[in-house]
Order: sequence, then C-alpha cells, then structure tokens
Amino acid sequence: VSSVRSYHEKVLDHYQNPRNVGTLNKNDINVGTGLVGAPACGDVMRLQIQVDEETGTIKDVKFKTFGCGSAIASSSYVTELVKGKTLEEALKIKNTAIAKELSLPPVKLHCSMLAEDAIKSAVKDYRAKRLVKKPTLGPES
Ligand code: FES
Ligand code: FES
Repeated sequence: VSSVRSYHEKVLDHYQNPRNVGTLNKNDINVGTGLVGAPACGDVMRLQIQVDEETGTIKDVKFKTFGCGSAIASSSYVTELVKGKTLEEALKIKNTAIAKELSLPPVKLHCSMLAEDAIKSAVKDYRAKRLVKKPTLGPES
C-alpha cells in the first residue's frame, strides 16, 4: 500500500543505507568530535566533523550511532545536511526539522534531538581544540 510505503520511507532508507558511517581522526586539529547520549533511552551517538580551514565549512562528516532506527536515520540525515555548511549554519539545525523530514512520531523526537546535540557537541569540540592549539604569541612573533 503506497501510504504505508511513504510513511517511513525516508527513515527506512537512511536506516538501511546510512550515509557517512565511520570515524575521522580525532587527533586532527580540523576534526571536532561530538559524543552525546539520550537520557530517555541510553542510546549514544558519536558525530565528527572535519572543517576546511580556508572556507570554514564542513568538508567531511562521519557518525556512529548505537541506538534505535530513528536515531540512526536522524544521524545519517544530519550528516548529509551539514556537509558544505559553515559551523554557524550547522548550529542552527533543529531536531524538529530532522523529525519533520523523516516523519518521526512524537515518541521518537528525542532520537532526532540526539542528532542536533551531536552536531552542537562536535562544533564545540572543534572550537575548543582550536583555542587550545592555536599558537600563542611567542618571543619570536
Ligand atoms: Fe534504546 Fe531507542 S530506546 S534504542
Ligand atoms: Fe532513544 Fe531513539 S534514540 S529511542
């Protein structure tokens, strides 16, 4: 039945063929790693971004989610969404937009929240790393 097929079509597609699954080198100065958990169910999502220093945009992104299908689909979708975006743009992604795109039912809203939190956490980590590693004014400069 077509209405059944369209119901979770996007969730299913992202769940069965998740995009950008994997790991980036977290020691790379241009990589930010976000690790978040959902208190509601104990699921965990790790999402990493690699930032292009020159353009300030996200040039690569990878995730690993230990969680339900909706969480996997949300993270897969969000990786497609943030690629090519600036950090500011990425920070504006709302879980409600993810949930809407994937037609998640209300009980699965927290799964998309995980994806929003993971992006925020990755950006935060990236920025913190840059602050720490940025060369300070030494005697020679
Ligand atoms: Fe644990 Fe979602 S409740 S997988
Ligand atoms: Fe917990 Fe989906 S992330 S049920």
